Amino acid sequence: MKLVRKKTKVVLGISGSIAAYKSAELARYLITHGCEVRVVMTDSAAKFVTPFTLEVITGKPVTNTFWNETESGAIGHIELADWADVLLIAPASADLIAKLSYGFAESPLLAVALATKAPVVVAPAMNVNMYDHPATIDNIMRLQQRGVHFVEPDSGPLACGWLGRGRLADQREIFLHLRRAVAPQDLDGKRVLISTGPTREAIDPVRYISNRSSGKMGIQLAKEAYRRGAEVTLVHGPLGRTPYIPRDITCVAVTSAAEMYEAMTQRAISGFGAAAEQFDIVITTAAVADYTPADPSSKKIKKSNEPRALELKATLDILKSIGIQKGKTARPFLVGFAVETGDEEELLNEVRHKLSAKNADLMVGNLAHEAFDHDTNRVWIVSKDGKEEQIGTAHKAQISRSIVDSIVRGITKDTLT
Ligand code: CTP
Repeated sequence: MKLVRKKTKVVLGISGSIAAYKSAELARYLITHGCEVRVVMTDSAAKFVTPFTLEVITGKPVTNTFWNETESGAIGHIELADWADVLLIAPASADLIAKLSYGFAESPLLAVALATKAPVVVAPAMNVNMYDHPATIDNIMRLQQRGVHFVEPDSGPLACGWLGRGRLADQREIFLHLRRAVAPQDLDGKRVLISTGPTREAIDPVRYISNRSSGKMGIQLAKEAYRRGAEVTLVHGPLGRTPYIPRDITCVAVTSAAEMYEAMTQRAISGFGAAAEQFDIVITTAAVADYTPADPSSKKIKKSNEPRALELKATLDILKSIGIQKGKTARPFLVGFAVETGDEEELLNEVRHKLSAKNADLMVGNLAHEAFDHDTNRVWIVSKDGKEEQIGTAHKAQISRSIVDSIVRGITKDTLT
């Protein structure tokens, strides 16, 4: 498998489905997200969207016939197959999927699919009954067994008038599958549990105490773990505008610190018994409220001119509870975050202290003014064996890559020792 960090070279294969018109948007989306795109389309696809449209969008010639491809002496469809880091077929019609599964090579798109060594991602779009037909199901299963990645279509009203599964998946979902197909699968088969976002502690039915956490760091970590092959569960507090969360990530929405404690410890701690239910990695990025109103009012508190005091009681520490339960066992690999407002030295001291106080394997430190509400962050990663590393300011997606790299090194080491 070829892995290209800078620009992923995508061959976009378009087949004859009404959703072919969406492939122009998809090509643009891929280009704006750092891909180089070359298009190969079937004759029937060209009835729905013109090759010229795709040529203008990609800035590259579109391949739709075998018969004008040898200008430079190269065999066009083989050159395309070798050029690709990934072949993405979107939309894939029932007919194309059937032909793919039998290895037909009657069109340049099928020939590229047969000749390429790159991963293949297929996003079907068709009538719901065609999609649910046993013949299509068999063809998809056969291709999946050969390692082809499928992006399940969305449900909803279809162009043919039926209602059901068959709409081309959201372009963000397709893109995530594509990125997963080209990523190292170093978390393949691992189960990852992540907490993220703020919590809200009710004062009365209309007021609460909360904090400025956006949940973005945890979401980026969830996406990165998913991209690298993990099965991810994300327990999150109330979120505002956040990055797209892939459908395959299990989301558990909670509101208060008590609810987050239940949701996290139930999954992390109950799994200590049964191996199959165990999480391999637990990451707590959530900014959990440390205090909650001792006696929240069931009715809206009315105003008065008198000063008021609010009695608070401490909440339970989720990370520490999981750390205590974990004891000296290697699983789950426990990752905490520490957010501070002091200088770098104070931050590092707190990170080292929290690492041992909460029995974590890895602690990530960040400064509140650089982390909260930002798309970027700067972090310090400190591991139990004393290794300390600073990751300079970068987008949270990039930061999460470095954090997952450290986690992978940590679990590999733990497995070896
Ligand atoms: N954490 C948790 N449950 C809590 C409080 C914190 O799981 N009730 C976790 C956070 O998700 C984070 C780590 O503990 O991974 C450190 O959180 P932080 O707010 O930096 O520190 P606290 O332990 O709350 O201590 P302090 O606020 O005094 O710095």
